[in-house]
Amino acid sequence: MSWARDCTKRRPAIQAKLTLTSAIPSIAAFCLYYQHTRQRHNYDISKGFKSRMTAPSIYDTVADDFSRVNDLIVQRLSSDVPLVEKIAQYIIESGGKRLRPLLVLLSSRAAGYSKDEHLKLAVVIEFLHTATLLHDDVVDTSDMRRGRSTANANWGNAPSVLVGDFLYARAFEMMVELKSLPIMEILSHATAVIAQGEVMQLMNVKNPDITEDQYMTVIHNKTAMLFEAASHSGALLANADDAQEQALKNYGKHLGLAFQLVDDVLDYRGDAEAMGKNVGDDLAEGKTTLPLIHAMAHSSKENRQLIRQAIRKGGLDNLPKVLELIEASGAVEYTMERARAEAAKASDTLSALAASPHKDALELLTQVAVARVS
Ligand code: IPE
Ligand code: IPE
Ligand code: MG
Ligand code: MG
Repeated sequence: MSWARDCTKRRPAIQAKLTLTSAIPSIAAFCLYYQHTRQRHNYDISKGFKSRMTAPSIYDTVADDFSRVNDLIVQRLSSDVPLVEKIAQYIIESGGKRLRPLLVLLSSRAAGYSKDEHLKLAVVIEFLHTATLLHDDVVDTSDMRRGRSTANANWGNAPSVLVGDFLYARAFEMMVELKSLPIMEILSHATAVIAQGEVMQLMNVKNPDITEDQYMTVIHNKTAMLFEAASHSGALLANADDAQEQALKNYGKHLGLAFQLVDDVLDYRGDAEAMGKNVGDDLAEGKTTLPLIHAMAHSSKENRQLIRQAIRKGGLDNLPKVLELIEASGAVEYTMERARAEAAKASDTLSALAASPHKDALELLTQVAVARVS
């Protein structure tokens, strides 16, 4: 199955083909908007999307592996406790782009891996990611995720946190099955760093004095770390040499930074339907992300005070005015510029890898990370 070629079809056609039926809305939206964005920016890639013959996609080269990962995800969600299974299935089957498992598949294959333990590793990473989402939506009091109401909105905070714990635990059970201490070390360390990143962010909430450096530390910890762990552990599984291992590790880090920078732009500029989550959540929570940091530094004293107040107060009352100031200060362009710089660094690391279709897909992924609208 080719996810990219599916981008060129209408949604009903996609639906017929997928095993994880409920994964369709977000993956399809991702594909469609990705295609749309590429065309708007006139990238060559859009020609590929129009032609089934040449359509390159981030999912294409590992399409079979990807589909096996989706099967394994469903299989390994099992629990004797019905509510655990219900909530875990609810969020997992809501879809998501599955970018982190994709990164495991592409990294290990690009480093020459030829067996199939990478499938399990990919599932571990997606479970860790999903656990962070369950917890994150509680902390951020978010009520929409992957185009549906969040688990916390449906079942309350306590079940969401506990099922998040279950997913972490299941991920660790599977990690042990991989029987690789170095991989366990990377993933357990990443899990600790992510949790600390989320706590750090919580401590920064409603504080308008967060610096750009502090912001970058938070996004490195809460987001880039898992991307880094995905590509790094993929490289280790493949017994990559030192240069390749380091390259893939850095690739994940820079890709993850680009990804979160864009996420923080989309929180102001995005389309809720395409993203499957609310616009304005960050301001509502009083999160001082880069668009706000830049807007504060490049606004009049009076407007700066207004943004500071909006951050301190939280909520959405000031969103229209804040959006105006973000636009007027060039904060979106600045944040996107930083995202593109990170994507370029990710792309540069790939020179350490031998030519392969997987390497090409990793290159494409750096472009997707900054062109995405979902
Ligand atoms: C959401 O990640 C959390 C962030 C790091 C911004 P994704 O945008 O990859 O979420 P899904 O898995 O596709 O829903
Ligand atoms: C996501 O940060 C980080 C983790 C899930 C660890 P956000 O809070 O920006 O992610 P969204 O926007 O809710 O997906
Ligand atoms: Mg959030
Ligand atoms: Mg966000």
